[in-house]
Amino acid sequence: MSAAPEIRIMTDRQELAEEAAELFVWLGEQATTASGRFRVALSGGTTPKGLYAALAGPDLCTKLAWPHVDFYFSDERCVPPDHPDSNFGMANETLFRPLKIQPEHVFRMAGEDNRPERAALQYEELLRKALQAPAPAWPSFDLVLLGLGEDGHTASLFPGTQALDERERLVVATTAPQGVKNRLTFTAPVINNARAIVFLVSGSSKATAVRLALEVPNQSDPRIPARLIRPETGRLIWFLDRTAASELTIAKQGVVSHEE
Ligand code: 6PG
Repeated sequence: MSAAPEIRIMTDRQELAEEAAELFVWLGEQATTASGRFRVALSGGTTPKGLYAALAGPDLCTKLAWPHVDFYFSDERCVPPDHPDSNFGMANETLFRPLKIQPEHVFRMAGEDNRPERAALQYEELLRKALQAPAPAWPSFDLVLLGLGEDGHTASLFPGTQALDERERLVVATTAPQGVKNRLTFTAPVINNARAIVFLVSGSSKATAVRLALEVPNQSDPRIPARLIRPETGRLIWFLDRTAASELTIAKQGVVSHEE
């Protein structure tokens, strides 16, 4: 039975980014002390930009032994790495270059491959090898960062897609209803095998999806893919700003300080 999610509500997007960055560093210190490596899967979208800026900023850029950090991606749009919609491209500009992360510590999905299913299989093989998890074992990340779409999607697990039901594969090719159509994504079991899963959600446009993800009783409602994210034994932490949390009962009852 997975633990209940931890919900942390921040005043605004900036505080959310700063608090998430502090947690990132703390988890990194724990992982590198325990195993010598910090294996993190980055999410896509725009919300993580603030986190990446905080990590590369003067307060935190020296706080983690970056050569001990291995960066993966929980999903990718099927575009070249230098495309403006590439999740790798955004992380490269805002995190890897500023921190001078060496290429051998960055494992991107081949969004440029015109055969997404082949790219998915190749990334799956890469994960099994890099995280020493031959089938049927599941690789375990120290941290998986996730965002949330207004339709309740996370990574590239979109409502109504077969990817939601996948329980064998680690990575699959799928499609998105808007934006870049072809995607590559972790499946729910890979994410749920992580030691820590952190959602970063900001903005009033996400408030309904947050409520449906966290408060609607039907545990794994396929219409809300984020409800599939329940770590086996790891921590599940939701970083929300006040606007994203505005429909939550706990927020309405005013029982939450600026950070819970
Ligand atoms: C992607 C992401 C996706 C994202 C959400 C939130 O590749 O688009 O993985 O799941 O995290 O759509 O995106 P924003 O942070 O841009 O709101």
